[in-house]
Amino acid sequence: MPGGTSSTPQYEALYNGLEPPPFKMPFIDSPDVVTSNTLRLVGETPDARKRLLFTSLTRHIHEFVTENKLTVQEWRDAVAFLNRTGNMSTPDRPEMELVLDIFGVEALVDAVNSPPGDNATESTLLGPFYTHNTQDVSHGDSIASEGKGEYMYVEGRVLDTEGKPISNALIDTWETDDTGHYDLQYAAEVPDCRGRLFTDNEGKFNFRAIVPVAYPVLADGPVGDLLLAMNRHNMRPAHLHLIVDALGYEKVMTQFYPSGDKWLDSDSVFAVKKSLIVDLETVNDSERAKALGFKNPDKGFKLLKRDIVLRRK
Ligand SMILES: [Fe+2]
Repeated sequence: MPGGTSSTPQYEALYNGLEPPPFKMPFIDSPDVVTSNTLRLVGETPDARKRLLFTSLTRHIHEFVTENKLTVQEWRDAVAFLNRTGNMSTPDRPEMELVLDIFGVEALVDAVNSPPGDNATESTLLGPFYTHNTQDVSHGDSIASEGKGEYMYVEGRVLDTEGKPISNALIDTWETDDTGHYDLQYAAEVPDCRGRLFTDNEGKFNFRAIVPVAYPVLADGPVGDLLLAMNRHNMRPAHLHLIVDALGYEKVMTQFYPSGDKWLDSDSVFAVKKSLIVDLETVNDSERAKALGFKNPDKGFKLLKRDIVLRRK
């Protein structure tokens, strides 16, 4: 078996005493037999959901190989690619997740799990830069340290699908700085451009932030090689990430996209939904900026005003 034969005592104990299955499988004399034998063994999976998924996965992978008559060299290249991707993957650089993202897999998982038909705020990808290591902010506070970019003020209400305000809803939000980087990517000493707050009794929330900017997904590794092979760019349109959660309601993971971004309709990870595009209002009113707490009120700010609607559980 490739990869060696050593095992830990823990696993040896788990496998100790297992016997061949109570049926015999034909020896391999054609491609079909490889597939039917594999399906026969996979079909022994005790858990029903896992059995369904493993069986379907086997069918699709085997069909991919036979339909395209995958060559031995292509197979070796694919395995080397996956090994390289796995070896490079860390919590700060989730290369494997990005490979799946640029094939639209996370977007598809989100789409098949998003029931249409009501006015609830649509969900989209979580993305790789969420962390529990964030800062608690009060209404009106800034989630971004001073000097990080163009000012933005975010305000709205969290409502149920009938328009009633939801108090005490948790809003967890994060965004890039003005260079297109998340704090996780430059090992910030304290969380920056991310924060957590609760809605008030009227369901309202408001906080200061900065205007997010479009950014490239990291392209100096396997993901970049794939994108180049497909003649694709590696950009994501600017966005503000939000997770909104309240007792008795379905949690929503979403992103708001300022309109006018040139990458909006060719997002490299297919996350943009029309209902999530927001118009930012330009406010050149230094008195208002000052009242809202901006340190350099003469710079003005952009206003992102949007309610978030949650579906009852
Ligand atoms: Fe993002």
